[in-house]
Amino acid sequence: MTSATNPLVAFGAGKVILLGEHSVVYGYPAIAGPLSIGVVARGGPSRSCVLDVPVTADAAQKRMMRKAFARAAKLVGEPRVKVTLEPQLPLSAGLGSSAALAVATSRVLLQAAGQAPTAKATARLAWEMEQEFHGTPSGVDHTTSAEEKLILYRRVQSPAGVTGRARALKSPRPVSVVVALAGARSPTKLTVGALRERQALWPERYKRLFGQVGRLVTEAAQAVEAGDLEGLGDAMNVNQGLLNALGLSSPALEDMVFRLRSLGALGAKFTGAGGDGGAVIGLFPEPEPVVARLTRDGVRCFASQLAGPRVQGDNS
Ligand code: MEV
Repeated sequence: MTSATNPLVAFGAGKVILLGEHSVVYGYPAIAGPLSIGVVARGGPSRSCVLDVPVTADAAQKRMMRKAFARAAKLVGEPRVKVTLEPQLPLSAGLGSSAALAVATSRVLLQAAGQAPTAKATARLAWEMEQEFHGTPSGVDHTTSAEEKLILYRRVQSPAGVTGRARALKSPRPVSVVVALAGARSPTKLTVGALRERQALWPERYKRLFGQVGRLVTEAAQAVEAGDLEGLGDAMNVNQGLLNALGLSSPALEDMVFRLRSLGALGAKFTGAGGDGGAVIGLFPEPEPVVARLTRDGVRCFASQLAGPRVQGDNS
């Protein structure tokens, strides 16, 4: 339970999808890893169960956060706690800010209700919140955030409902990416909805493309576990081609993909929802000089290590 001297603090990590976004919504596998930055939630004493939304959120985001919070709070018996959110990530940049927020909030709510914030309990509650944010999420974002590991994920539909299955991927070599922001990002609901309309019109064609992405993800998972960064990078490049074929890329995203490749990325693609803009990732054995170069050129970017033995001096 909370007290003024012992406030609850919880973290939810942001995420990047290494391969398999969008097709993961249709039951194909994806690989995703946690970022070292995310959302911090603090729980303090209160007469009721309330959310203090971040000032940086716009009106629509605030509305959605309150609805998602109310849904999760109800499920844990509305403990008396005031939850304050501190996002370290840009909101709505395709880096899993809503999932990070859902995970951090769920951890505080569970503790305030006297329940253990295990990865499973956290993921279950965060899933409820994510449905308010995204409608029909695959579950990959909040599962990555709750597990805080590089995972191979698959959405599973059974008569009992939708669940997700995750397996941790270990790499004998550091798997590090540069995350660069390009253009103004499209809302996930929009790109997911537009793709759903296209695949409903031409189901066989889109099934073929999703199947190709699924096979790439399986090959990429093997490459991660073998420490084959070149193979992983090539799979990422081909995945970007397929994302473009699915109608999910744009000039701003493609420009950044080619920029990262020209700086030596073993593989580069957009990550997350795609659309008009958003986040692009490049796989680099040594990401720091690339971050320095892009930052000098005015690009918002950072490096993050997703798996493998920790690199000395890396604080991502
Ligand atoms: C968004 O980060 C990833 C998507 O695949 C949607 C989802 O998995 O729910 C586009």
